[in-house]
Amino acid sequence: MTRHIPILLEEIVEGLMVPFVRSPQPAVFVDCTLGGGGHTGAMLERLLATPLGAAHQVVSVDQDADAIAVATRRFAGPISEGRLRLVHSRFSGLAGGLPEELRGMPVLGVLADLGFSSDQIDSPERGLSFRLEGPLDMRLDPSKGRTARQILATEPERSIADLLWTLGEERLSRKIAHRIVQARSAGQLPDTTTGLAALVAGCFPPPARHGKIHPATRTFQALRIAVNDELGELDVLLDVVLPSLVSPGGRAALLSFHSLEDRRIKQAFSGKQESSPWTPVTRKPVEAGESELAANPRARSAKLRIAEKRIEN
Ligand SMILES: C[S@@+](CC[C@H](N)C(=O)[O-])C[C@H]1O[C@@H](n2cnc3c(N)ncnc32)[C@H](O)[C@@H]1O
Repeated sequence: MTRHIPILLEEIVEGLMVPFVRSPQPAVFVDCTLGGGGHTGAMLERLLATPLGAAHQVVSVDQDADAIAVATRRFAGPISEGRLRLVHSRFSGLAGGLPEELRGMPVLGVLADLGFSSDQIDSPERGLSFRLEGPLDMRLDPSKGRTARQILATEPERSIADLLWTLGEERLSRKIAHRIVQARSAGQLPDTTTGLAALVAGCFPPPARHGKIHPATRTFQALRIAVNDELGELDVLLDVVLPSLVSPGGRAALLSFHSLEDRRIKQAFSGKQESSPWTPVTRKPVEAGESELAANPRARSAKLRIAEKRIEN
């Protein structure tokens, strides 16, 4: 059972799929970030209610093997009916195209709901939360790349400071990097989330340690983005995957949670560059309304942008 509440569900289904309910031929819809399967489930349901119903296909991707395992059980029906394929991969892997048997079908909608799910942040062993004690890991796919601790144990002080500044917009980046390297030289580099959170909090003046935002928030964001190469993945999605995957007239919907992502998406979807394949569907980002925010505080920073692939491209 997933604890993740899908964000802007109605708006995504409406914006991504409603234009295609009368599609004269079977089409493919792709969910690049399966997570708890909230959006995938809604896509499957919506497609079944269209005239071509079960002929449409959904492909859902996640780099987290646990998310794939949970969805394999949850969606056993649609999988066995051949309406849903689950792919364990980073979404940059879609640059290589869709599974063989779907090639040739139009791709009319692609969704990416970026970042991590509530299930992931609530699992202490992933090391994503500074509130839950766990190893300083942060990898969404634990079989790939360096852990947060490996980065802190090996990078020069200057690189750690740059990382905290560029990916976390942390104003105390130099001081925090210095303390980290001091601890490391003394053989006292924390190996838990709460240990690092305490070290970071100690860099702040006492009033900031008890504010509404935990002082380690930006450091953890920066490390998570670096560990999972989140901006590199987003760049491949925007520059390669979406332009090649989405068929002319099809749509892409991107849900992001911080300004580093939204800035890139806004620019790519603006359609302003001459070579851009996109026409924006949403001029301004769609945000959650009061009732959604009351039910799901995680929706607070969510920004949804939708664009349509130009026909002439
Ligand atoms: C915000 S959650 C998605 C939640 C989902 N839309 C739902 O409603 O249940 C993001 C998911 O995307 C996955 N993810 C993040 N970056 C990814 C990437 N580059 N490639 C594949 N999966 C990724 C994470 O592992 C996580 O499960």
